[in-house]
Amino acid sequence: MKTYLVTGGAGFIGSNYIHYMFKKYGDDIRIINVDALTYAGNLENLKDVEDRDNYTFVKANICDRDAINKIFEENDIDRVVHFAAESHVDRSIVNPEIFVETNVLGTATMLNAAKKAWELPDGTFKEGKKFLHVSTDEVYGSLDDDPNAYFYETTPYDPHSPYSASKASSDMLVKAYMDTYKFPANITNCSNNYGPYQFPEKLIPLVINNALAGKDLPVYGDGKNVRDWLFVEDHAKAIDMVQEKGKLFETYNVGGHNEKQNIEIVKTIIDVLREELDDSDPRKAKLSYDLIKYVTDRKGHDRRYAIAPDKIKKEIGWEPETMFKEGIRKTIKWYFDHNEWMEHVTSGDYEKYYAKMYDKR
Ligand code: NAD
Ligand code: TYD
Repeated sequence: MKTYLVTGGAGFIGSNYIHYMFKKYGDDIRIINVDALTYAGNLENLKDVEDRDNYTFVKANICDRDAINKIFEENDIDRVVHFAAESHVDRSIVNPEIFVETNVLGTATMLNAAKKAWELPDGTFKEGKKFLHVSTDEVYGSLDDDPNAYFYETTPYDPHSPYSASKASSDMLVKAYMDTYKFPANITNCSNNYGPYQFPEKLIPLVINNALAGKDLPVYGDGKNVRDWLFVEDHAKAIDMVQEKGKLFETYNVGGHNEKQNIEIVKTIIDVLREELDDSDPRKAKLSYDLIKYVTDRKGHDRRYAIAPDKIKKEIGWEPETMFKEGIRKTIKWYFDHNEWMEHVTSGDYEKYYAKMYDKR
């Protein structure tokens, strides 16, 4: 039975990945989730799995060398899937240092701990051990409005925000471990994800939440910046496939050719919400494009991201399963049906109840 160490599993993509893995492998794997439970970490995301015998949560910071080494000493870890990071570009513009701390130093700590646990006296590594570093397409910088330009694995790094610069640095560290020590790792660079459990400071859940509350929908700049959206379960599937079928030391870009301007996303959400709400629902009356408010642009705002997923498709056979039309509807319905989750997240209640509960253990 393989043991997975997942970092940042209480966040958006990490929790979706854990759900995906238990759905796929059931009792045939063991998952240890290590998460510091920052504002973005929410154990409510993992309620369905918390009682499983093959799931363990450890509250720890990935920068805490002793805590991370201890996990490796006490468990025979086969796979590391490293999600933990500060992930919001706007926050990185206000407070860059924590991004360097968590994303760069935290990744260094994870790499060192795995290397220490897995390295044999002759400098090779124990059979079958693998580290997957989860990264972003934002490390490649910004494309212009040419619809035929894409990010390939060979595109030079050109990060612009403190977030993407810190992710680029962490990718480089992983690459250095692979090149120097032949450390058994892969890097995935994925486009923007959307789906259940995303913290409502990111565009899609923010717009859903504000629209249902009849609040303004802030659109930065001219609203024509393009992001390439992927349903989060397809990202989870890609990560699993890269670990099982990918060539060691390789980078794989992950994306489903779903490029949309921000304004299109905002309008789609309004349209779908209007279809889903009953005519008698008072929230429907307030829901219109009038809620859209163009606001001051983000500093250094990247214009366009677009992934070329040719390599992962060809070498590994990964294909996205959920097309945008279906995925956005699923996502909106999920937020609709999980009003309480949204209330806890926006009021910070999950921090009070869940974090304290684990502090006591
Ligand atoms: P998130 O902000 O929702 O979750 C991050 C998780 O990491 C949280 O649970 C948080 O508590 C935890 N964490 C933060 N600092 C920590 C620390 N010092 N020690 C331990 N845990 C810590 O982020 P996400 O959107 O789920 O992104 C996960 C990963 O995927 C990140 O590495 C991000 O760069 C990458 N990524 C995200 C996207 C996207 O669209 N969201 C796209 C591509 C790649
Ligand atoms: P975001 O979800 O923060 O992801 P990222 O910056 O990592 O791509 O933002 C997605 C896009 O939406 C980005 O171009 C910025 C824009 N945006 C808005 O227009 N309004 C908002 O309130 C937010 C949060 C983002």
